[in-house]
Amino acid sequence: MPYETLIFDVRDGVAFVTVNRPDKLNALNDQVMADFRDVVEEIATDAEIRGALITGAGPKAFIAGADIGDLAKQGPFDGKARALRGQAVLRRMETCGKPVVAAVNGFALGGGCELAMACHVRVASENAKFGQPEVKLGIIPGYAGTQRLPRLVGKGRALQLILSGELIDAQEAYRIGLVNKVVPADRLMAESEQLLRGILAMGPLAVRLAIEAIDQGLEMTLDEGSLFEANLFGLLASSQDMKEGLSAFLEKRPAKFTGR
Ligand code: COA
Repeated sequence: MPYETLIFDVRDGVAFVTVNRPDKLNALNDQVMADFRDVVEEIATDAEIRGALITGAGPKAFIAGADIGDLAKQGPFDGKARALRGQAVLRRMETCGKPVVAAVNGFALGGGCELAMACHVRVASENAKFGQPEVKLGIIPGYAGTQRLPRLVGKGRALQLILSGELIDAQEAYRIGLVNKVVPADRLMAESEQLLRGILAMGPLAVRLAIEAIDQGLEMTLDEGSLFEANLFGLLASSQDMKEGLSAFLEKRPAKFTGR
């Protein structure tokens, strides 16, 4: 399906999504968020799509945040509604059951950093910059940045970044665990795709349930989370994928997973 503000392409099971407002550093206005909501739904529900890779158009920015022009017009109730809408879109992506990789090609600020954090893996180009600069504008993150950032990097570092509004470079983002890998800019898409295709070569049901175990388990006590994990571990024993994966190992051959 064509999108007004996104470039969307599916190649060999991977959905490539490029936020396409380079003249505004790919800022997330209401149209981008509406398109993104729809593309996330397509990723979640189209059986041909097995994973997704998200990036930004142009050499400068992944996404430089929510569109400040839109924010300038909002009152308390539509402001809250905008935050809830954006949070729901990112949560749908995070829980869509398929791996999503962010290829961060420049500024990932505010909503851009929040969107990247809702992806399962983040690969950054060497020129990427990250930050939650909302306090400079007299606001706070609204797409769950105050929740995901401390879960990723710890409370102390999240407080420092969110309270100072400072930007950090890709190496610092890697050091604190905000990104998984830093690569040269000209290798970003190739390395991100390679990483995603590596995940797609694994058992798809196992990948889906591993994401679910980590996502849900982080909100549980250790005992609850461990029981949840054991239930999913047991559930996978009913899958053809488990039989295939274990047999392939024992027979010393590559596994052929079907996602059943
Ligand atoms: N919302 C709306 N427009 C934005 C934007 C945003 N979040 N970020 C950048 N833009 C626009 C600029 O207004 C400018 O538009 P113009 O050419 O029509 O004036 C264009 O994108 C290019 O940005 P510019 O500021 O000229 O680039 P720069 O290289 O000098 O600075 C940034 C880059 C990222 C440091 C700067 O654009 C910036 O601080 N952006 C806002 C980041 C932010 O606070 N995000 C959180 C929002 S909640």
